[in-house]
Amino acid sequence: GDYRGRYRPQVHFSPPKNFMNDPNGMFRDENGTWHLYYQYNPTQNKAGNQHWGHATSQDLYHWTNQPIALFPPRKNVYIFSGSAVIDRDNTSGFFRNKSNGVVAIYTLAEYLSDGSPGPQSQAIAYSYDGGFTFIPYDRNPVLDSNSSQFRDPKVVWYQDHWVMVVAYAQEFSIGIFTSPNLIDWTHASNFSHHGLLGLQWECPNLVRMPFYAEDGQRQDDMWTMLVSINPGAPVGGSITEYFPGTFNGTHFEAADSAARIADFGKDNYAGQFFFGVPDNEDPVSMAWASNWQYTQTVPTGQEDWRSAMSLPRRNHLKKLDRVGWKLVSSPFDMQPIMGETLAYNQNLGNEALVIDFSGQASNAIYWEVNVTGLPKSGIPEMATVNFTLLSPTTAEYVRGGYYFGGDTPFYLDRGGAKGFDDVFFTDKFSTNSLFRDNSWSMSGVMDRSILELFLNGGVDSATTTFFATQPLKVLELAASNLPHGARASARVNVLKSSWQ
Ligand code: FRU
Repeated sequence: GDYRGRYRPQVHFSPPKNFMNDPNGMFRDENGTWHLYYQYNPTQNKAGNQHWGHATSQDLYHWTNQPIALFPPRKNVYIFSGSAVIDRDNTSGFFRNKSNGVVAIYTLAEYLSDGSPGPQSQAIAYSYDGGFTFIPYDRNPVLDSNSSQFRDPKVVWYQDHWVMVVAYAQEFSIGIFTSPNLIDWTHASNFSHHGLLGLQWECPNLVRMPFYAEDGQRQDDMWTMLVSINPGAPVGGSITEYFPGTFNGTHFEAADSAARIADFGKDNYAGQFFFGVPDNEDPVSMAWASNWQYTQTVPTGQEDWRSAMSLPRRNHLKKLDRVGWKLVSSPFDMQPIMGETLAYNQNLGNEALVIDFSGQASNAIYWEVNVTGLPKSGIPEMATVNFTLLSPTTAEYVRGGYYFGGDTPFYLDRGGAKGFDDVFFTDKFSTNSLFRDNSWSMSGVMDRSILELFLNGGVDSATTTFFATQPLKVLELAASNLPHGARASARVNVLKSSWQ
């Protein structure tokens, strides 16, 4: 793959060429190698002809592209999304004398001769070489249905058995199945009609999730069901919602009846959690950083690739005053890509910090702003902290900011980037990002054509693609009208390319 293109992310994963969508089969093996598979069309810059592409990494930022791992078994049958597990105890019987056997569980999606969707069923394949090559089970599928909308199995281990969650996509229902051996599956329960329905439910995840009290104390673990909906996101197209709750090995129960959206941008879908992360760590996820509404027409096609993954993230739940449960999601340890500090300012005052990073070949940067000393009340409506990413040649921009005294505090605006014109490529997003304990923070990762924002350490986050005709090379960070006693500090670092 050629990773030099102007839009090519330098610290995010994107496929060597052609079209990618959902992350699939992600696991960490016993040597600490991370495996990422993904929905892949190796022959075109648009969706279709789905295989499982494959890449491996030691740190989740530097990826080695590997040969395709799963191929369509026959004409008009494709490999849709799914997951993978390590069958350490050889429950499946595929792996005599081996503790690193990998089993992939995925959807076989059939198309009829007129092109309409045929049956979807769940199949498995096993790997003797740690996940590089797979042998399809000779009695596939392991879970059949009459439905053309039954897909995306995600398997986890619960105490003494395997658990699969799988979407009855157009019935707004997640089937929960159990198995002793990954081959024989028993229907246990359904989780359905919660939160937003949209038109389809896809790519469910059931995740053991640590939760932390507001003071940062780790409490007992909970479980969280995540469901990706497409179309039907509040801002259009595809997005992921989540339900904190409890799970007893067969039934999932949501903690309350609220619908919660995982990201306030428009480019975070079909996220999946890695198998093989120990229970004492916060679970790790990655998502597809795009949206079905426009993914097949974005201008990266000029560079012969389409779609990247989000940053890898750590996740946990937090219970906050007033808003209740929140999924807190922040970048996985960025040390391997963190480059030199370009600017550090202990007190922005009412000035703007202007950083010209045009000398940085990666065209990728990180920044953070931390505001402390905020009074509980009486904050002027126009007290703000904001950022602007600019192209000095075309005046294109992407920007955002927080209004400390307002009711809709944070906004994000990608409308100043002019390289992509599509009626569904919505410009502006906002979220209510309450500040707590007299402080508020924002961090950002700008990576050529992807921006990820994390507010208050990931209590709110946004993933946004943008396409400027010229690279954005200047960052302005500014504070204004901050109340007496409040102080905003800022730091900006270059990010080192993982690909050059
Ligand atoms: C989600 C999805 C899945 C399906 C896959 C096909 O983006 O529609 O439901 O398995 O993409 O590529």
